[in-house]
Amino acid sequence: MKQSGPARRGSGLSPTDPRLLAAPLDFISEDHLRERQICAVIDALAVAGPVDRQTALGVLRFLNEELNVHLRDEAEDLFPLLVRRCTAEDAIDRTIARIRIEQDAALRLLPPVRASLARCLDTGCDLPEDDRAMLIRLAAHVRRHLVVENAIVLPIARARLTRADIGLLSRHMRSRRGLPPVAKAPDAG
Ligand SMILES: [Fe+2]
Repeated sequence: MKQSGPARRGSGLSPTDPRLLAAPLDFISEDHLRERQICAVIDALAVAGPVDRQTALGVLRFLNEELNVHLRDEAEDLFPLLVRRCTAEDAIDRTIARIRIEQDAALRLLPPVRASLARCLDTGCDLPEDDRAMLIRLAAHVRRHLVVENAIVLPIARARLTRADIGLLSRHMRSRRGLPPVAKAPDAG
């Protein structure tokens, strides 16, 4: 349900507040906080004894509903905008190539990790050792991607993207989530 009031930030314990899509770089930053929290949950799930159903379900929902969309926000919108706006000294191509290695690795692991968690939830069986190792690898790739993005990509994006770029990014991210464009507010300036 849509909430009124200002967008909430900070916990990473629930999906990122869609009201932050008005400031898409803040939304991505918040998604990274969320990812960091879930990576810790995934690591804990991988080393725990019997699998806690609620935890496994929460991770599966995150993988199905949040991570894939986040990766598309970056690959399809943020990175192309950065390539267009950055100067040679930003060396953004090299940074994006580095991130893509982690993202591709994470994307390759997503189907088997989803299948493993779904099987565990369906049958009540425990997670095999190989699947636990796969969970740890997935968390590592996700964590490495967000560290590089927080340290390099987002600061450069805040410096280089134009107001029009931010508007475009916001519209595309809203559209990806099935949300209509926001009506343009009267220019206060
Ligand atoms: Fe990211």
